[in-house]
Amino acid sequence: MTADTPGRSGLAVVVGAGGALGAALLAQLQQEGHYGRVLGLGRAGEVRIDYADEASIAAAAQAVGGLCDQSGLALRLLLVATGFLHGAQGQPERGWRHLDAGYLQQVFLVNTFGPALLIKHFFPLLPRQGRCVAGFVSAKVGSIGDNALGGWYGYRASKAALNQLVKTAAIELRRSNRDSLCVALHPGTVDTPLSQPFAKTGLTVRPPQQAARELLAVLADLGPADSGALVDYRGQTLPF
Ligand SMILES: NC(=O)c1ccc[n+]([C@@H]2O[C@H](COP(=O)([O-])OP(=O)(O)OC[C@H]3O[C@@H](n4cnc5c(N)ncnc54)[C@H](OP(=O)(O)O)[C@@H]3O)[C@@H](O)[C@H]2O)c1
Repeated sequence: MTADTPGRSGLAVVVGAGGALGAALLAQLQQEGHYGRVLGLGRAGEVRIDYADEASIAAAAQAVGGLCDQSGLALRLLLVATGFLHGAQGQPERGWRHLDAGYLQQVFLVNTFGPALLIKHFFPLLPRQGRCVAGFVSAKVGSIGDNALGGWYGYRASKAALNQLVKTAAIELRRSNRDSLCVALHPGTVDTPLSQPFAKTGLTVRPPQQAARELLAVLADLGPADSGALVDYRGQTLPF
């Protein structure tokens, strides 16, 4: 086995490793040991990524590229587990009267523009041969076809736009690597600071560790034919 047998010992990078799901994905990848090296990136740490600062994304990609060159490991897995639903910039809208430019800017910055810039700066690092995987944690509420309840205008729209970015990038990525997989992922309802204020009784809320295990198992079962899809933690393809 060479230092970089596809899918066995490349480099895996988790963006958003300081979040609840991101931290669980990082820990699960480290525990499974399928990759030669597993790296977590976030707003804290030496190599930091802050979506409000494109230069930080470019610098992080350059550092990861340097690590690939140094170690002989190719970037085989890029997992993006960042997201925003509520915080200092506002709360998800219950109706159109709550629409607010500041909240919309923040929700699109974190859920859409940041991941778009990750595609710009990190996808050129993905290898041209052998399996490589890019997974973006999205949300079922971003599905337009599945929207029966309304509300949450900004979060829904930002995740729908993320799904379109993922689909578009999957098409472009396939041109340089036919074995590539680029998907949007719905993790289900997970017990994290993001969902906590909205977790209703009766809803199945799973711990981040379980969601991480399930998402990684789903990714392992997907192939190039699934690229561009929105897939949930049970492996079901969801409508856009
Ligand atoms: N929890 C659920 O039930 C649920 C359901 C469906 C989908 N999701 C999706 O799952 C993903 C993970 O969310 P989570 O539940 O683990 O929430 P979380 O614990 O709040 O994590 C959010 C992550 O986003 C990062 N982030 C926020 N603003 C950022 C910015 N400006 N630049 C860079 N990173 C930023 C945070 O970084 P810091 O650590 O630096 O703050 C953190 O890593 C999100 O995409 C979310 O939409 C979650």
